[in-house]
Amino acid sequence: MDAVELPRSLVSTVRSELKILDQRGLPETVAYLSCTELSEVIAAIKSLAVRGAPAIGLAAAYGLLLGLEDCPDDAASIQAELVARGHALIAARPTAVNLSWAVEQMLQFAATQSAAMGETGWRDRLYAQATALFNADRAACRAIGVAGAGLIKDRPSVLTHCNAGSLAVSEYGTALAPIYQAQADGLPVQVWVDETRPVLQGARLTAYELMAHGVPCRLITDSMAAHVMSQGLVDLVLVGADRVALNGDAANKIGTLGVAILAKHYGIPFYVACPWSTVDLATPTGADIIIEERAADEVRQIQGVWTAPHNVPVFNPAFDVTPADLIAGIITERGILMPNALSEPACGAEHG
Ligand code: MRU
Repeated sequence: MDAVELPRSLVSTVRSELKILDQRGLPETVAYLSCTELSEVIAAIKSLAVRGAPAIGLAAAYGLLLGLEDCPDDAASIQAELVARGHALIAARPTAVNLSWAVEQMLQFAATQSAAMGETGWRDRLYAQATALFNADRAACRAIGVAGAGLIKDRPSVLTHCNAGSLAVSEYGTALAPIYQAQADGLPVQVWVDETRPVLQGARLTAYELMAHGVPCRLITDSMAAHVMSQGLVDLVLVGADRVALNGDAANKIGTLGVAILAKHYGIPFYVACPWSTVDLATPTGADIIIEERAADEVRQIQGVWTAPHNVPVFNPAFDVTPADLIAGIITERGILMPNALSEPACGAEHG
């Protein structure tokens, strides 16, 4: 595939509509879902039409505001409506903290506006706040790219798992941001892409977007990672995260833990890249992170084609937790942090 322009995961140009790139069809079909109601955004999050921790948070921030025209113009009614909507959004997927973080940011903004929330233009002010969160995520991703690009200088062969690129965020990505930055800096870089069963975010999304950016990459099945590492072909592992606990344990797409254990075995540095909004200081350890379990047919099928007996019992956890001691560092917009030092004052305290 030649380099092509990459579609954006979310497009919001007016308050009444959120366009969500339907990632289920990628890379074959580029199509947007036009959402004008909260329920459509919730369905898009549940079905993985939009996925990736920051992207579902931003979809929630905009989704919270769809169809608010019928809500009475008094502060108490607005607050109650937003809280109810926020609960419905947060329930859509439990593991990625960015979802509840974004909803809380919106609710806190509404609360600080107090009585002014009922005055002319309150819906527009909330929309401006959602856009501010979107722009803050863009800035964070760029900063993650700058913070992490230096790691690639002496380690040009990178392995990644799942998709933590521009499709998973506002734009640019988290784990892929240092790769894009290294490429922009003229550094040689190449990427091993784990296909990431069961729903193939690596094969369908990461391979697609790396090629769109013109980054050399090779797709492997998840079971090939050990062999590729054993051959000395991987210098560095970069992955994203859905929630990082206070002690530095990091939840990410199922299969990440295995990659981290392999990296440890072969002496390959394993880094997590995420915005600070993914760090959840209120969750003490990885054992406290709720792991989403998804539908059995995601495992029995590949892209809708049966690959197992239709009724075989299935276990389908969508995420696993990598212990902090397997993580060399957490690349954030605040720099590269040690996983065992996240609660230090220099790290700030937006969470918890
Ligand atoms: O189930 P998904 O596709 O939403 O899982 C996504 C991941 O695990 C990503 O690695 C994570 O959200 C980081 S995205 C920048």
